Amino acid sequence: MDSIDWWRTAVIYQIYPRSFADSNGDGVGDLNGITERLDALVSLGIDAIWLSPFYRSPQADAGYDVSDYCDVDPLFGTLADFDRLLARAHDLGLRVIIDLVPNHTSSGHPWFEEALTAAAGSPERQRYLFRDEPTDWQSVFGGSAWTQVPDGQWYLHLYDVSQPDLNWRSADVRAMFEGVLRFWLDRGVDGFRVDVAHGLIKDDTFPSYPETPLGVLAKANAPYWDQDEVHEIYRSWRAVLDEYTAADPSRPRVMCGEANVSVPRTARYVRPDEMHQTFNFPYLTTPWDASALRAVIDASLAAYGEVGAPSTWVLSNHDVVRHASRLGYPPDSPAGAGIGIGDPQPDEELGLRRARAASMLMLALPGSAYLYQGEELGLPEHTEMPDQFRQDPNWVRKNYTERGRDGARVPLPWISSAMAFGFGAGEATWLPQPTGYGRYARDLQEVEPTSTIGMYRSALALRHEFDLGRGDLEWTSEPGAAVLAFRRGELQVICNLGPDPVRLPAGAELLLSSSPDVEAQVPTDCCVWWRAQP
Ligand code: NOJ
Repeated sequence: MDSIDWWRTAVIYQIYPRSFADSNGDGVGDLNGITERLDALVSLGIDAIWLSPFYRSPQADAGYDVSDYCDVDPLFGTLADFDRLLARAHDLGLRVIIDLVPNHTSSGHPWFEEALTAAAGSPERQRYLFRDEPTDWQSVFGGSAWTQVPDGQWYLHLYDVSQPDLNWRSADVRAMFEGVLRFWLDRGVDGFRVDVAHGLIKDDTFPSYPETPLGVLAKANAPYWDQDEVHEIYRSWRAVLDEYTAADPSRPRVMCGEANVSVPRTARYVRPDEMHQTFNFPYLTTPWDASALRAVIDASLAAYGEVGAPSTWVLSNHDVVRHASRLGYPPDSPAGAGIGIGDPQPDEELGLRRARAASMLMLALPGSAYLYQGEELGLPEHTEMPDQFRQDPNWVRKNYTERGRDGARVPLPWISSAMAFGFGAGEATWLPQPTGYGRYARDLQEVEPTSTIGMYRSALALRHEFDLGRGDLEWTSEPGAAVLAFRRGELQVICNLGPDPVRLPAGAELLLSSSPDVEAQVPTDCCVWWRAQP
């Protein structure tokens, strides 16, 4: 933890607390489970962790439905457990970023309960978006975005009916969240990942907009996404964070926005007085195609560079099909909305080979990278989960047409021969693990140098050694080529997405390869890092 702008180059590991490690055997991961196993992440070489929500919540959307922003849900532990986790992480040199869910509360939040019993037009209702008439807006999870309450009014919920949207023009809402920021900053967190950062302000003329709100990238013209007024909220939060940073400049507190919009719109969220980072979803959604990847890399570096912010890079998270499965499909992949029994299945071997290459490509780029728990194991999606286990509200709200996100959220395999593959003390797991997960267990990979975890560890060590998070990228391949080749100072990269093997330059010293079959040539779907021999 030595750099005051650590976030510019950080590799940040997303922990999905439900599925990381279960210390009490109830089948759901918890904070103590995380604390006990932080060592495994330190040895991987990451800089920070981001924790998905662990707050009090009815768990209608796996914790993204918060009923108390300043407490830990008993499912995950206690505030004291959180403090221990934070202290242990800091002792180990890891920064800790927590999730902030400001777009909506849970319908179980005391404010929403008060709003329901209060009259139309009351201050209690003004904290949310109640109207006498609904509009034609659609929920991200399917169906109308409006639900009627007994006195005839309607409230807006861009997500599940149990996630009422807050009114960010309300002074109460602003004051409450400033208090939430301070509560966690006072406890010592290093920053926040801001959920639905592009959605807090809605066009208050409530125009007609019947379209479905989301593929993975929000549509640009929707009256509830990416409205100009959101930026002023982030400026006010930045001032709060900067107060804490000024009090201890060795520990800058940071924000990363889930601003699910296109590049260059994302860059507007990271102007110098706003957030520090935004997720690069355009990168995540780019197909395995050299020209398309080169274009998104160039566009990202240019757009973020213009506002003096680092680009970020990401391939997987808890909302999308894991990249080891996504890349196992042909380019017109059906993988976007989740995979289940009866769906075309990915080619597991091809997916893993490409996932390893894609991860090495990503980790060679300048800026900050996000990893999703399990990707360091090359973990595939659970693509054949029986439907009766599904818990994602998407599945029900979209009338059982989209399998949704459960396949990416399955409890991690730690020990191949243990019950629940060592996820917890007992046999229980809140989602079933596929039998094939045993092959990916961490204990098997730890002793195998060419394993996926071995590759990530070597890549992160080289990333530090060559300071790959900083500096420029200089292409050495031609635009339009099926190979991506570039120079990062002394270290050079060749990622072969084409059908033919590519010769390594004479005298090249191979530093790391995504597949074991590299000698003089880089085969298809392989990424290598090399340098010229002195
Ligand atoms: C984005 C989160 O990542 C996702 O899991 C959640 O369902 C929505 N925001 C709503 O909070």
